[in-house]
Amino acid sequence: MSFIEWLPEYETGFEEIDAQHRSLIKILNDLHSMLYEEKTGREELKKVINFLNEYIVEHFSTEENLMKNAPAFPPDFFEKHLKEHRYFIDRIQEFTGLFENGSLSTKELVKLFEFLGNWFCGHILRIDKDTATLLKK
Ligand SMILES: [Fe+2]
Repeated sequence: MSFIEWLPEYETGFEEIDAQHRSLIKILNDLHSMLYEEKTGREELKKVINFLNEYIVEHFSTEENLMKNAPAFPPDFFEKHLKEHRYFIDRIQEFTGLFENGSLSTKELVKLFEFLGNWFCGHILRIDKDTATLLKK
């Protein structure tokens, strides 16, 4: 069973963003299974780390370009959103560093799992949803 099941209410209505958010939920569920089944070998971890490094480039640029190109998008909200992305990028880079020097322990993986779970509730379901509402205006 998945840790988080994707629900229609999680959608922003922007197809590309929703597909990217779903892929993050998939990796969160994968990480949950890996921890639960104690399958946290280097190959499995590499998949997760690679995914997250692509996500911080592709997904954030999708969202940021939409905001940038929306004529009446509030600049302060844009800045707030960007700040959260920068924070996520910093954290992912920290976890990537741990992976690269071979010290991404189970304890750190649990932290990554919690971080992604909090990101889902605190960012995707809040600021991304509010952004979508503003973009549709
Ligand atoms: Fe976002």
